[in-house]
Amino acid sequence: MKVIPNPGVLGASIEGLDLAQPLDAPTVDTLITLLGRHGVLAYPDQHLTPRQLRDFSRNFGELEINVAQSADSELPEVMTLSNIVENGKAVGLADAGQDWHTDMSYSNMIAFTNILYGLKIPHRDGKPLGNTEFCSMHAAYDGLPDAIKTQLDGKTITHDFNKFWENMRQRPGSARPPLTEAQRRAKPPAVHPAVMIHPITQRRVLYANPGYSIRINELPEDESDKLLAFLFEHQLRPEFRYAHPWKVNTLLMWDNMGTIHNAVADYRPDEPRLIKRCQVKASRFFSAH
Ligand code: OGA
Ligand code: MN
Repeated sequence: MKVIPNPGVLGASIEGLDLAQPLDAPTVDTLITLLGRHGVLAYPDQHLTPRQLRDFSRNFGELEINVAQSADSELPEVMTLSNIVENGKAVGLADAGQDWHTDMSYSNMIAFTNILYGLKIPHRDGKPLGNTEFCSMHAAYDGLPDAIKTQLDGKTITHDFNKFWENMRQRPGSARPPLTEAQRRAKPPAVHPAVMIHPITQRRVLYANPGYSIRINELPEDESDKLLAFLFEHQLRPEFRYAHPWKVNTLLMWDNMGTIHNAVADYRPDEPRLIKRCQVKASRFFSAH
C-alpha cells in the first residue's frame, strides 16, 4: 500500500489496495490512523458493487441507516446521491451536502466517517465538476486567537438538523418540504463540546459547523450569535482548505470530527452525477449520551 499525501493541510491518496477484498485488522487500523492524520483519503480506481462498498464501510464501525430517501431497499445502509431523474423520478438525493457542514453533528451519536464511491462525475471542458471541499478543524482550532480558545473552553454547542434542512428548503427550486412535527421529534437537536479531543490524533479540534450549529449554550444569545459568526468565518479560511476533484471509480472517505465539508453545486441537471454512500457512526470511540 502506498500513501501519497497532498501538498496542503488535508488529504492523501492511497494506492495498491483492492477495497473489494476483505481487509485484515492491521490494515484497517492503519487506515484509521491515516484518516485521523490526513482527514480525507482517496482510493482511485476501485471497482465495487454497492454490497462491497457496504462491506468495506463496516470495517470502520456501525453504519447509519438513513430513513430519509433513496436507500437501496436490499441494502438500506447504501444511499444514492444523484441529480439524475429517470421517468420523472429522482434516482437519489440531489442536493446532499450543498453547504458547509459536518455529517450527523445533529445526532447524539455523531459520525466518524462518510464513505462515497463515484460512479458518474460531471465534467466540462475536461475539468471535473461537483468537487467536495473540506476544511481542517485541527488547523482551524490551532489557528484560533488565544482569547477565543479560552472563551471556548468548557463550552457546548447545540446542533440542529432542521437548520440545514430549512436553509436548503429556502433555495429556489428546492424539492424539500418542511420537516413534519414527527420528523422534528425524531431528530431533536443534540449538544456536543465546542472543542473535542480528537479520538485518533488526541489533538484538539473545533467541533462547530455552519450547517447545523445553532447555539453556544453557556453564552447569552447575542454573544453566542457573535461568536458563532466569528467561528463560521474563521473555519473556512483558505489555508485550512482542500478541494477534492472527483474521478469515476474513486472511493473517498473523510473524518467528520477533524473536518467540515461542502458539496460544490457547479453542475447542471443535464450533467449527471451519481455517487453511492455509506455513513459510519463514531460508536467505536464514544458511547451515546
Ligand atoms: C455527504 C456530502 C458531498 C458530496 O454525502 O454527506 O456532504 O460532494 N456529500 O456529495
Ligand atoms: Mn455531508
